[in-house]
Amino acid sequence: MKDKLKNIVNEFLGELRATKKEADVFNVKAKYLGKKSDLFSLIAELKTMSNEQKKEFGSILNGIKNDMEEKINRRLEELNNEDNITFDDTLPIDKTLGSLHPVTIVAKEVTDILKSMGFIIMDGFEMESDYYNFEALNMPKNHPARDMQDTYYLDNDMLLRTHTSPNQVRAMETYGAPLRICAPGRCFRNEDLDHSHENTFFQLEGMIIDENVSIGNLIYVMEGLLKAVFKQEVSVRLRPGFFPFTEPSFELDCSCLICGGKGCPTCKGSGWVELCPCGMVHPKVLEMGHIDTKKYNGFAFGLGLTRLAMMKHKIDDIRVLNSGDIRKISEFNIE
Ligand code: DAH
Repeated sequence: MKDKLKNIVNEFLGELRATKKEADVFNVKAKYLGKKSDLFSLIAELKTMSNEQKKEFGSILNGIKNDMEEKINRRLEELNNEDNITFDDTLPIDKTLGSLHPVTIVAKEVTDILKSMGFIIMDGFEMESDYYNFEALNMPKNHPARDMQDTYYLDNDMLLRTHTSPNQVRAMETYGAPLRICAPGRCFRNEDLDHSHENTFFQLEGMIIDENVSIGNLIYVMEGLLKAVFKQEVSVRLRPGFFPFTEPSFELDCSCLICGGKGCPTCKGSGWVELCPCGMVHPKVLEMGHIDTKKYNGFAFGLGLTRLAMMKHKIDDIRVLNSGDIRKISEFNIE
């Protein structure tokens, strides 16, 4: 009898394993546990046995029956899960579901252009230390420039980075000189929200460290970059600016492409939009990055990717970009 049971169990396992759908499992169940099954007739035979045999075989048969039932249920569950993940790849794809975000598209365009100029792309950290976000950029504690970059301070002594500039020192530490890096990413500030200010926005940091880098090099790269991005001539102007981590520092503005320079809420009526603050890297920052300041210098820029996307796609309110409202975002008709 034991051999017979062994055969039954082996056959049962083989057939259960081969099942492909629920109905197959129910067939196996009927065959091995139904009224016409061998197991059922063996259980029926128990009646004819002595008490001792009943005890011994009864518990064996019962054990096998329970085990089979458990295996059947497990197989049903497996098939159910498999059913849920199979999908029909012949179904047509609904292309109206969504598209890349305008900022994602601009970031890709800019990084592609910079890559062609020999820049490598770096990924920084959205959660930064005070050291990289401020201190290493020549903004020690209590420096007034920190006021303009209020942010969200976290319980773990870290903060949400206010700009992509922490990547400057991180890049110098990692790669040394000479280097050309760009680092796109999300930044955060405690802002009063309006047409052109959001608490979450995107920048792209760029930096070149080499021998004899000049302001002329900086202007050349910036102009080339903006022309390639806008695919048209754009007027740019350079104004003196102040940043603790560059000396001299500049504000690079481009003519407002939303109003054509006439003045609108986005450019606050001035006809110009601040697009790319930049400057020659401050010697103290080079030192923080362990660069030999006698041999090397460089320039850096912080391109406002969000602003750039707004200019390029004529989006007049920055708040739309983070709204998650696909109806609005898709209005920009971006492929
Ligand atoms: N990190 C600055 C900001 O967000 C922008 C900036 C200014 C970046 C000058 C630079 C730079 O790389 O050289 O306000």
